[in-house]
Amino acid sequence: MEIIIQPTPDAASIIAARIIAQLVRSKPDCVIGLATGSTPIATYNELIRLHREEGLDFSNVTTFNLDEYVGLPPEHPQSYHAFMQEHLFRHINVSSKRIHIPNGMAKDVAGECARYEYAIRAAGGIDLQLLGIGSDGHIGFNEPTSSLASRTRIKTLTERTREDNARFFNGDLGQVPMHCITMGVGTIMECHQVLILAFGAKKAQAIAEAVEGPITAMNPASILQMHAVAKVLMDEPAAGSLRKRDYYRYVWENKPTWQRV
Ligand code: GLP
Repeated sequence: MEIIIQPTPDAASIIAARIIAQLVRSKPDCVIGLATGSTPIATYNELIRLHREEGLDFSNVTTFNLDEYVGLPPEHPQSYHAFMQEHLFRHINVSSKRIHIPNGMAKDVAGECARYEYAIRAAGGIDLQLLGIGSDGHIGFNEPTSSLASRTRIKTLTERTREDNARFFNGDLGQVPMHCITMGVGTIMECHQVLILAFGAKKAQAIAEAVEGPITAMNPASILQMHAVAKVLMDEPAAGSLRKRDYYRYVWENKPTWQRV
């Protein structure tokens, strides 16, 4: 894993956006896996700026989102469909035909999950997957004890995740769905490159376990230690519990020029 500690969330988000922009420029028909939550918003803002001011062209890009709540229609303001429209899609020139988000209203949930896996394969796999991390170490909605080989499927959200996400539902826990459809950990592991973003002291323990702890389904993000190209971008508070944080800073500061983003 490459650990990149930055002074602020904005500084880390600019690096994440630059890595994504480099991919889009070098492979205009790339496949990008996208995430929701508050963490990726600044990265999306920077991508929007690059589109508007520097002509970054998304017209041939295909996207796959990690997850969606079961029971929320796309027009529900807290659905991840609505989130993606609001924070990214409506501001850039991505084609609606190339956007994929699990259908949380599917009657045949198992069929929807199989269809999603098939669509990822048919698109040639995901070139780059953007990830946040839950305070319990979840990626997508793969809660602790998720199989590290899992594929897209229905999951039951933990109370902790529902409480964490209640802020998007006016703080009303009763409105936070109980179930979701999420790409599996195995699905995520198959992408060619992973970018994980983590901001704030609330993520410090999950990040320390994911980066420096043993690989365990108790912290699903820890399996990314087995991914060949995983970059973990964070601010100082999220890095607060990393034992080797001085070493990570030293590596970043001494990166060969040709390797710099
Ligand atoms: C949700 C999403 C995850 C996200 C996590 C963290 O549970 N399914 O993909 O990483 O929240 O959210 P936030 O970025 O708001 O802290």
